[in-house]
Amino acid sequence: MSALRKDSLIEGDFPLTLEDFRDIAAMLYADARIHLTDSKASLVYSRLIKRLRALNLESFADYCALLREEEAERSEMLSALTTNVTRFFRERHHFEHFSSSVLPGLLARARRGARVRLWSAGCSSGEEPYSIALTVLEQDPRAADLDIKVLATDIDPRMIARGRDGVYPEAALAEDVSTGALQRFFFKEGSARRAAGELRKMVAFRRLNLNGDWPMRGPFDIIFCRNVAIYFDDATQEALWAKFAAMLAPGGWLYIGHSERVDGPASAYLDSAGVTAYRRNAKPQGGAQ
Ligand SMILES: C[S@@+](CC[C@H](N)C(=O)[O-])C[C@H]1O[C@@H](n2cnc3c(N)ncnc32)[C@H](O)[C@@H]1O
Repeated sequence: MSALRKDSLIEGDFPLTLEDFRDIAAMLYADARIHLTDSKASLVYSRLIKRLRALNLESFADYCALLREEEAERSEMLSALTTNVTRFFRERHHFEHFSSSVLPGLLARARRGARVRLWSAGCSSGEEPYSIALTVLEQDPRAADLDIKVLATDIDPRMIARGRDGVYPEAALAEDVSTGALQRFFFKEGSARRAAGELRKMVAFRRLNLNGDWPMRGPFDIIFCRNVAIYFDDATQEALWAKFAAMLAPGGWLYIGHSERVDGPASAYLDSAGVTAYRRNAKPQGGAQ
């Protein structure tokens, strides 16, 4: 029976008031800088209602009280509210650009003994970093023996665990990954396949909040950060672009999502150079961070 409350934004089994919604949005912003407008109330409702039921709570107000006390539930909330949609070789034009215009030079450097670092920032369940590693291995099957590594980070610990597991349904893989790569780099496990061998060796998964402190020193030669900044407000996006510019080697590339755009102080260091592709110029970055 739904207990209707005058100030309900959503009047389901558990009414969600504007105050509850704003509490939740404020906690998500404080933890991840993910920005929820009031229009996201029904999304919040549908994603969190399962938590209320699992925890036997009677109202969103009780859930908010729990969130204030329990770090572990904050992490559950984050996992429930982040959008993790992804697929292998999503926005394929970036992989084509990377493969034809950037990778040959990086491989030549790596064969001379240089260190090459690639980063999938906001990697979700791992399809993006594995697609980067597959692109490298396709061009040089011995790349795993060189000093080339793909760092894969996400704020959501569940996604990091899934990426580390590296298990994907065969049907999803078959749609986007070539048969040769499937057979060579993934072990069959029933109706799924697990990333293995050289592919697994090249990718390291770590939990990281892009809007927190970064322990890595860089520099990175390539950063993929696609369909992540879209969830942040303008100021947070600008700060993130500036941190990426500071992490990229001169000549390094940043690929962003189809609906994103580098803006703010970082524009002085990241030259637009193709569809949602930016190249770090050689200007020293005093204070853009
Ligand atoms: C829609 S997925 C994008 C996955 C992949 N980059 C792609 O384009 O297919 C967005 C990912 O960003 C992550 N994310 C959101 N806020 C984040 C933050 N503050 N720090 C790191 N990752 C974050 C989410 O957990 C989610 O896995």
